[in-house]
Amino acid sequence: MVDIKDLIENTIEGSTVFNNTSALNPEHIPANLPHRENQIKELTVSFKDLIINPGSTSIRTVIVGRTGTGKTVTAKKFGNELKGIANQKGLKLYYVHVNCHRQRTLYLMLMEIAQNLRLPLPNRGLSSQETFKLIYDYLERKNLHLLLTLDEFDYFISTSPIEDIYFLVRIYDELNVSVKRLHYIFIVRELSTLSGLDKSIKDHIIKNIIEFSPYTSSDLYDILQDRIINEKAFKPNAVSDEAIKFISDIHGADKGGSGNARLAIETLELAGKIADTENAPIITVEHAKKANSKINPEMSVITDTIKDLDLHYLLLLKAISSLHKKQGEDFFPMGRVEEEYRTVASLLGEEPRRHTQIFEYIRRLKLMGLILTRHSSKGMRGRTTLISLPIPVSTELEELLDGEIKRRLQKSRLSS
Ligand SMILES: Nc1ncnc2c1ncn2[C@@H]1O[C@H](COP(=O)(O)OP(=O)(O)OP(=O)(O)O)[C@@H](O)[C@H]1O
Ligand SMILES: [Mg+2]
Repeated sequence: MVDIKDLIENTIEGSTVFNNTSALNPEHIPANLPHRENQIKELTVSFKDLIINPGSTSIRTVIVGRTGTGKTVTAKKFGNELKGIANQKGLKLYYVHVNCHRQRTLYLMLMEIAQNLRLPLPNRGLSSQETFKLIYDYLERKNLHLLLTLDEFDYFISTSPIEDIYFLVRIYDELNVSVKRLHYIFIVRELSTLSGLDKSIKDHIIKNIIEFSPYTSSDLYDILQDRIINEKAFKPNAVSDEAIKFISDIHGADKGGSGNARLAIETLELAGKIADTENAPIITVEHAKKANSKINPEMSVITDTIKDLDLHYLLLLKAISSLHKKQGEDFFPMGRVEEEYRTVASLLGEEPRRHTQIFEYIRRLKLMGLILTRHSSKGMRGRTTLISLPIPVSTELEELLDGEIKRRLQKSRLSS
C-alpha cells in the first residue's frame, strides 16, 4: 500500500522541470514580445505627437486581432514604456488599462480610471457625467496626460446602451479644451463590431487601425523559446526541442491552428505538469501530445457528434468552417452562413434546404454544442444572429467534415 502522506510529500519535494512558474502566468508581462515589433512601431508612430507635441491632438488608435494574438500584453507594455519615456522628459503621462469585460458599465470604467489616477471620489453616488468631469478637472489641475486603453471594447459595444458608447467616445471632443489630455487605444477582436456603429461614433474611434495577425508556427516557436530561455520558466534543457515544435505546429495559423499564443503557453505549462507527475526530467513530445489532448477535450466529443449527423447539418458546418478560413473572423451573420451553405450544397450537386429548415438545423446544432450563436451588437442597425464554431478550424476538423460528407453522399447515391 502506498502511504498517501508520503506520496504527497514526495511529489511536493520531488524533481520538477519548472524554474519560475510565474513567467507562465497569463498576467505576466515578458521583457520581449517576439513578432510584435512592427505593431509596437506602429503604436509609437501613432502616439509620437504625445511626446513631441503634447496636447496638440487627442490621439486614437484601434488594435484589432483574434484571441491570443498579444493585444493586451502589447498595449500594456507599450503604455508603460511610453509613460516611462514621457516621465523622463518631464511630461506627466499616466497609462491606464481598463478591461471592459471586468468593468462592465460606463460608471465602473470611470471609477477604475479614477482609482488608477489615485483620484479620490466622494462617497455620494455620482453620475457618469459628474465622474468624468472630476477626472478631467483633475488632469487639468495636475497638468497630466492620460493614455487610456479600453480592452475588450467589443464587449462594451455589445452590452452598453448607445448613449454610453456615444458619451465615452465623444464627450472629450465636445469639450472645447485647448490642451488635449486624453488619448485612447481601443482593443477589439473584430473590426465588424465597430463597422455596425453609427457614423458619428465611428468617425471618433477609427482613426488608425493596427492589426495583430494570428501567429504562425515559427512565431509561436520563438515566443515559447523566449519564455523558456529568457524568462527562465523552466530549468535549463528541461524542454525538448521536439516538444516546442509540436506545440507550435498544433497552434500555428499557417498549420491550421488558431495562431493563439495563450493556448501554446498553456499547452507547454500543462506538458510540464505531466512531466512532473511522471518524474521525467525533460518535457518530451509525448508529454506535449498528452497536454494537447487534455487542453482540447471538446474535440473528441465534437468528433463523435459529427459522425452521427445527417448530410445537411454537415454541409452547414462545412459552410461555417470555410467562412472561418476564408475571412479569418470569429462570427458570421446568419445570412452569410446560409449563402455559403447554398454554394457548398450546389457544388456537391445537392438541392439546398429552405430558409425555415436551415433555421431549424442551426437551432439543433446549437443545442448539440456544435455551434455558438450570439446576437449582433446593440450598436448595429437591425439585430441579427451571429454564428461561430466552438473550436478552431483545424485540418483535422476539415478532413473529418469532408470525409463524413463524402460517406453520406455515397450512401444516398447507392440507395437511389
Ligand atoms: N509576442 C508575444 N511574445 C510573448 N508572449 C506573448 C506574445 N503574444 C502573446 N503573448 C502571451 O500570450 C498570452 C495571450 O496574449 P494576450 O493576452 O495579450 O492576447 P489577446 O490578444 O489580448 O487575447 P484576447 O483577445 O483573448 O484578450 C499572454 O500570456 C501573453 O503574454
Ligand atoms: Mg486581451
